[in-house]
Amino acid sequence: ALISLRQMLDHAAEFGYGIPAFNVNNLEQMRAIMLAADKTDSPVIVQASAGARKYAGAPFLRHLILAAVEEFPHIPVVMHQDHGTSLGVCQRSIQLGFSSVMMDGSLGEDGKTPMDYGYNAGITRKVVEIAHACGVSVEGELGCLGSLETGAAGEEDGIGADCILSHDQMLTDPEEAAQFVRETQVDALAIACGTSHGAYKFSRPPTGDILAIDRIKAIHQRIPDTHLVMHGSSSVPQEWLQIINENGGQIPQTYGVPVDQIQQGIKYGVRKINIDTDLRLASTGAIRRYMTQHPAEFDPRKYLQESVKAMMEICVARYEAFNAAGHG
Ligand code: G3H
Ligand code: 13P
Ligand code: ZN
Repeated sequence: ALISLRQMLDHAAEFGYGIPAFNVNNLEQMRAIMLAADKTDSPVIVQASAGARKYAGAPFLRHLILAAVEEFPHIPVVMHQDHGTSLGVCQRSIQLGFSSVMMDGSLGEDGKTPMDYGYNAGITRKVVEIAHACGVSVEGELGCLGSLETGAAGEEDGIGADCILSHDQMLTDPEEAAQFVRETQVDALAIACGTSHGAYKFSRPPTGDILAIDRIKAIHQRIPDTHLVMHGSSSVPQEWLQIINENGGQIPQTYGVPVDQIQQGIKYGVRKINIDTDLRLASTGAIRRYMTQHPAEFDPRKYLQESVKAMMEICVARYEAFNAAGHG
């Protein structure tokens, strides 16, 4: 059944677990996520980005998610709009039947101006008014994602990739977070705590507390009733990088967020963990390997099946690691 993000994350908070939110663009990703949730008895958050809508078209995405609900009626599903950049985008998603939307005003009205608090709080408040009237949840974002190692903002929907952030901008301020939640009434808040979007998060193997765990703790203490969201949470599995590169790929050495760091975050109020890159890597690796091993094969279902299996394994591992397994 389709439920709201608030409903799903309230349960996660009560029982102290986290839920991976996987990006969907196609049938194979959708099936991998649902099969993994079914296998592990986990709740599902699937999210569609602006890029996904451009790729598949809003009606196809909507029906892909509805098909998942129809095929797996026993699994609770949140249909979430990822990184909405305007009131209009959020309104259209609500109209389409999404049960949750993200209003990301963290980069300002032009998408290039971090830290415009007034704009961000104002637009997010408007989205909340409309969404809540329709029973739809809202995720906001405060602070700018960026790698604490490099200062690079990463790829946020193609924006900000060339912008270098200061250390302060890359950590959400707990007092400001409290004010933002009071003023906007968001259900969930994406925070900046050292993660960044895309595959290139860290250039060296991360050790110890590569994320600002104390900051997560401090934010959670100030806004205990608001569910924290960690974007840019792919772990960039080294085994998949290797498989890609052994089969004709050329991906430079790079590292993601270790799962144990995410588990630390979950201890201190992180409930929604956004993952896109890991499924892209697993899918690409599985397809490249299949193509190398079966050069005469040309039935797409053969290699796409390998893609589904590889993505499913990642989903199962995350459901288990975040303790969502058994709560479906
Ligand atoms: O926020 C970024 C997500 O990974 C979505 O990426 O805009 O390429 O679909 P995308
Ligand atoms: P990754 O690029 O780390 O998978 O993050 C995805 C994300 O945050 C989508 O909103
Ligand atoms: Zn994101």
